[in-house]
Amino acid sequence: MKEQIDERVLPKLTNGIYVLTTRKGEEINGMIATWVSQVSFHPPLIIICVKEERYSHHMIKDSDLFALNILREDQKDLVPVFKSRVNRKADKFKNVPYLIKDTGAPIIKEALAFLECKVISSLDPGDHTIFLGEVIRAEILQDGRPLTIHHLDKHYQG
Ligand SMILES: Cc1cc2nc3c(=O)[nH]c(=O)nc-3n(C[C@H](O)[C@H](O)[C@H](O)COP(=O)(O)O)c2cc1C
Repeated sequence: MKEQIDERVLPKLTNGIYVLTTRKGEEINGMIATWVSQVSFHPPLIIICVKEERYSHHMIKDSDLFALNILREDQKDLVPVFKSRVNRKADKFKNVPYLIKDTGAPIIKEALAFLECKVISSLDPGDHTIFLGEVIRAEILQDGRPLTIHHLDKHYQG
């Protein structure tokens, strides 16, 4: 069958905007991620999709742990901080207060909520690795509504 793909369609999928955080030894990091989905209630499982070239990718591969910080709709200002490749290591967190819970990955204090996960499987079907995570802790931190990709204009994307 001949492929007929209008490139305007995939960007219409609705996704949240998350800060995906990791820890490997003393090193912490965080990156913006939007390709995230729940895939099971019992047990609670989610997938994240991370390109191999991301610094976070090797940290997750090595530690098998990550946290997902669910941002509030008024936290767009964190997008430029965590979409950056520079200022990685602890510097991305220089002005972002965080907590440490079970995984050691940073939990953003002002986030709406967070999930901490243990990686139980991974798959490389295309240009991003799919990490399947079992949720080991989930908490609400603030009141509010979640930030989604459609709250962001072009300035924040890419
Ligand atoms: C709106 C938005 C969504 C993004 N979603 C993803 C994603 O789901 N997976 C991914 O690998 N990169 C995603 N990125 C790109 C990473 O956030 C970016 O490459 C970051 O610099 C990686 O940081 P690191 O190299 O320190 O891990 C997204 C960027 C933006 C602006």
